Amino acid sequence: MRDRLAALAPDTQETTITVGLGMRSYDIVIGERLLDEAGPRIAAAVPGGRCAVVSDANVAALYLDRLKASLGGLFLGEVVVAPGEPSKSFPVLAQACERLLELGVERGDTVIALGGGVVGDLAGFAASILRRGVRLVQMPTTLLAQVDSSVGGKTGIDTAQGKNLIGTFHQPSLVLADISVLATLAHREFRAGYAEVMKYGLLGDAPFFTWLEQTWPQIFSGEGGARASAIATSVRAKAAIVEADEREESGTRALLNLGHTFGHALEAFAGYSDRLLHGEAIAIGMRLAFAFSAELGLCPAGDALRVERHIAAVGLPGRIADIPGDPPTPEKMLKLMAQDKKVKGGRLALVLARGIGQAYVERDVPMEALSAFLARECKRR
Ligand code: GLY
Repeated sequence: MRDRLAALAPDTQETTITVGLGMRSYDIVIGERLLDEAGPRIAAAVPGGRCAVVSDANVAALYLDRLKASLGGLFLGEVVVAPGEPSKSFPVLAQACERLLELGVERGDTVIALGGGVVGDLAGFAASILRRGVRLVQMPTTLLAQVDSSVGGKTGIDTAQGKNLIGTFHQPSLVLADISVLATLAHREFRAGYAEVMKYGLLGDAPFFTWLEQTWPQIFSGEGGARASAIATSVRAKAAIVEADEREESGTRALLNLGHTFGHALEAFAGYSDRLLHGEAIAIGMRLAFAFSAELGLCPAGDALRVERHIAAVGLPGRIADIPGDPPTPEKMLKLMAQDKKVKGGRLALVLARGIGQAYVERDVPMEALSAFLARECKRR
């Protein structure tokens, strides 16, 4: 335990984590002021070619000029989309690809995704299909994108049928996570991203979760190196999972979906709006996954209670009733959960837990027990 906590000591230095995927290996650099050093770092990691930046209007207003200055002669131009989930759509993807072609992006050039998860998924998808694939650099500007969506190569857009049902695997060539930009992130967005940090403790690293229970106030305030340590630990966990199961085939990567089947259903119910942010939906989903695991006798009730208490302590929603407005019916929840990508041969798979740090994929969820559980949770105040 002592070694483990030493490894989590405040980490104010720059950290580089390599995702080892053979020819597709890349570095994730976590540090301060990377925005101003992006040009030389990208030129070193992705030699030759120039760079087109995809961003959203909010992030571009704050950071595009600094990135342009750093890129200097490498800069080809920018594509700026509207902020928010609706930009992950076929029409916006088509516009972005056409604009990138108009800018003259060629096969040896690089698309830089400067923004949160929406920009990363959209720009990544565009990079994967433009001229049958150009290089991609992720520059995530939200906590959620820094610890999750910028790492691992998933790209995608949403359709009426659900989130991320159309997309590709396209690994970036470099990820530059500049943690100083988190200073301009709204508290609610930061807190929602923290749900994905918690997830790494809950799915496979109990000492990390214990450390988060003790250290979260410093992570939120940005004091000392706790925030950088939390991000680095999360990214290391994700990198290890991606190395083990790049294309989510063996079941290892599916563990990252802890809380996501419940969460995606709640997001769909809330209309992918400000009513419920992605990370907030995942916080509710993780509490539900632990509560359901405890109810099935898989997980100690005390562990489920710790999850519930930590979610409440940081101010994240943990119950369906925490979503503003009327709750979904249990039937609606089940229908939406069944639309998620985790359905195989008509059977619903769920990430459940045998305890904190011990998530596993349950491929044969007892549906009657799940219906009864949801009936109670949808009513619970
Ligand atoms: N965000 C889940 C994954 O990257 O697999």
